[in-house]
Amino acid sequence: MLTAAISTVCKDAFIELARGANASGIPASIGYPAGPDTHVKMQETGAPVFRIIKPLRDMEKLVESLKGSQADGCFATGIDTDSVAGLKPGGDSAHFDDICSPLSIDKLKEARQSVDIPFIIKGIITVEDAQAAMEIGADAIVVSNHAGYSQDYCISSLEALPAIKSAVGDKMKLILDSGIRRGSDVVKALALGADAVLIGRMALWGLLLGENEGLSWVLKLMSDEIKRNMILVGAQKVSDLNRDMLISLDSLGERILS
Ligand SMILES: Cc1cc2nc3c(=O)[nH]c(=O)nc-3n(C[C@H](O)[C@H](O)[C@H](O)COP(=O)(O)O)c2cc1C
Repeated sequence: MLTAAISTVCKDAFIELARGANASGIPASIGYPAGPDTHVKMQETGAPVFRIIKPLRDMEKLVESLKGSQADGCFATGIDTDSVAGLKPGGDSAHFDDICSPLSIDKLKEARQSVDIPFIIKGIITVEDAQAAMEIGADAIVVSNHAGYSQDYCISSLEALPAIKSAVGDKMKLILDSGIRRGSDVVKALALGADAVLIGRMALWGLLLGENEGLSWVLKLMSDEIKRNMILVGAQKVSDLNRDMLISLDSLGERILS
C-alpha cells in the first residue's frame, strides 16, 4: 500500500511493485486512492492483486469501490478500518480525514456482503476488534498499527498478535504488518501465529533502490534470512514454527534476575 508515498519513489511505481512481487511469486496490494485503473495494470504484470479501500463515509462510493475491485479481478478486497479518523500528518501528503469516518458494524457487514471475494479488515490491534471482524464476516485481518501512522503510542502489531491468535484461532487468516524489516521478523510473526506478513516500507525502499529489480533484491534477501533463521530454530517447514522457539524479553529478565 503506502498509496500516496509509493507513487513518488519511481516512475510507474505500482506497476514496478507488481512486477517485483510477481517475479518473487507473491501478491501485491494497493490502497486508496490510486489511479482508477492502477490495480488493473498491476494485474497485467501477472501478479495477483488485492485492493484495500479506505473507510469512506460515502457508503455508496465505498460499496462501488469494493465491487469494482471484484469486477476488475482482484483476488481479495477490504477496508483499512484504522483510517477512520484519517492518517497522522507527516511523511505522507494524504490524511483522508475529510473522506473517512467510523463505520457501524451493520455498515461494515453491508460492505462485506457487497462482494463475494475474500474480505480483509486491515488495522486490527485489539482482541475486541478482531472479534468484531469475525462478526462482520471477514476472511482475514491484518494485525497492523498502520506503520505508526494511525495513532500515537499504539502497541506494536507483534505484541498484539498472540492474544488475537488465542481469541481467533483458525477462524480467520491472520496477516501481520508494521515493522517487518528482516526475515527474522517474519519468522517471529509466523511463530506467534500469523499466516502471512505484509511489507510496506521495505518494498518502498527496494523500489527506490532499483525499481522492480530493487524490490526483487529486497525480497530475495528477506527470503534467504527466513530460510537461515528457520534452520537455526530447527524448523523444516513453516508449520514447525511455534512460540516455544522464541524467548520473551519478560522471561529473559526473570531468568537473569533468578
Ligand atoms: C507513508 C505511509 C503511507 C501509508 N499509506 C497507507 C494507505 O494509504 N493505506 C493503507 O492501508 N496503508 C497505508 N500505510 C500502511 C501500510 O499499508 C502498511 O500497513 C505499513 O507500511 C506496514 O508497515 P511497514 O512499512 O513497517 O512494513 C502507509 C504507511 C506509510 C509509512
